[in-house]
Amino acid sequence: MKILFLDQSGKPGGAELCLIDIAKPYQDSCLVGLFADGPFKDLLEQQYIPVQVLAAQPIQVRKESSLVQGLSSLGQIGPLIARVVQIAREYDLIYANTQKALVVGALASFFTRRPLVYHLHDILCDQHFSGTNRRLAVTLANRASLVIANSKASQAAFLEAGGRSDIVDVVYNGFEPAVYQHQFDPIKIKQQLGLDGQFLVGHFSRLSPWKGQHILLEALAHCPKDVTAILVGDALFGEQDYVQQLHEQVALLGLEEQVQFLGFRSDVVSLMAACDLVAHTSTAAEPFGRVIVEAMLCGRPVVAAQAGGAVELVETGKTGWLVPPGDALQLAAAIANCRQQPELTKSIAHQAQIEASQRFHLSTINQQIAQLLSRVRLQHQS
Ligand code: UDP
Ligand code: GLC
Repeated sequence: MKILFLDQSGKPGGAELCLIDIAKPYQDSCLVGLFADGPFKDLLEQQYIPVQVLAAQPIQVRKESSLVQGLSSLGQIGPLIARVVQIAREYDLIYANTQKALVVGALASFFTRRPLVYHLHDILCDQHFSGTNRRLAVTLANRASLVIANSKASQAAFLEAGGRSDIVDVVYNGFEPAVYQHQFDPIKIKQQLGLDGQFLVGHFSRLSPWKGQHILLEALAHCPKDVTAILVGDALFGEQDYVQQLHEQVALLGLEEQVQFLGFRSDVVSLMAACDLVAHTSTAAEPFGRVIVEAMLCGRPVVAAQAGGAVELVETGKTGWLVPPGDALQLAAAIANCRQQPELTKSIAHQAQIEASQRFHLSTINQQIAQLLSRVRLQHQS
C-alpha cells in the first residue's frame, strides 16, 4: 500500500517518534511529507524512510497554537496544499499525524478522493485546545475514514467533542523492547554526570508548562539533599519563558546542586538506566506518554501523574505509582517511598517491564495498524 504520511513538525516530539515506527514497514512505498525542516527529517533519513519537506517556508504554528491561526495564513499554506494534492495522486492513502497535517490532508483527500486516516495524538479537551480548535479538528477528523486514537483517554475526548464513534479505534504507541534492554552500568553513568551515590530522579520530556517540570522541582525542595534530578529535554515549541522560569525556580529553591538541565538528548535509554526513578509530572491530561512506557521497558520504576493516558499505562503498586497531577507533596512522598523500599520498587519495575514488553510490543501494534489500514482500503475500493 502506498501511503503519504503528513506531519507538520520538523522536530522530534512523541507523535513524530511514533510515526517513525509506523512508517518504517512501508518504507519501500511511502513518503513522509513534512511542513518544516529539522532534526525529525534526519531521523527519518537515518531509518531509510523517504521524506520530503513540502512547505517552502515552515507554517508558523506552534503545537498548541490555534488551528484557525494556521488556516488564516492561507497565503502561506495555499502552495503547500497544492503540492500535497499533486503528490497525493501518486498514493493510495493519506495519513495525517498532526492537527495541521489533518487540515491539509483533509483538503487533499477531498480533491484527490484518496481515503484519509488521522492519527490523533492529542486530548481534545479545554486543558489543551480552545473550543474553536476542537470543533474544527473534530469536523475535519469526522471526514476521515479512520481516526486512530493513541489512548482511550484521547478517544473519549474525541467522542466528547463530537467525534464519530464509528470511525475511531484505539492503538497505543508501539516499542521494540530490545532497544531498551541494553546493559548500561548505572554507576558509571551517574559518575559521568557527577551524581555518584545520589538518588537520581529522571524527567524526560520537552520543557513545556503542562509537562510540569516545575512540580518536580517543587517536590525536590521537600526531599533530602541527596535526591537529585536530571531534566532531559528541550523547549521544542518555543516555550523559552518556561525554561527561564524553571532556572529561576532552581535558584529560588536553592536546588543548584540537585538539578541538572541536560537539554534534548538522543541517548535517553542510557540516561534512564542511570535513574533510580523516572517521574512523569504533566499537569494536564497526558494523551499517551511515551516516556512512561520507555522507563518501564528500561526496567526503571515510574511515578506518573494520574490523568489521561497515563492511567491506562500504570497501575499503582503493581507497575508503578500514580499521584494527583500538580501535587508536589504527594510526588515527594512517592519519591521517599520508592527510596525507602528498594526491594518492592525493584519488583514493581520488573513487573512493569514484563507487562510493557507484551502490551506495547511494536510488532503487535504495527499489525493492528496494518489491519486497520487494509480495512480502510477495502472500504474505499468497494
Ligand atoms: N525524548 C528524547 N530526548 C529528550 C527528551 C525526550 O528523545 O531529550 C523523547 C522521549 O524518549 C519520548 C518522546 O521524546 O519518546 C516524548 O514523547 P512523550 O509521548 O512522552 O511526550 P510528548 O512530548 O510527545 O508530548
Ligand atoms: C503526543 C502526546 C503524547 C503521546 C505522543 C505519541 O505528542 O502529547 O502524550 O505519547 O503524542 O502518541
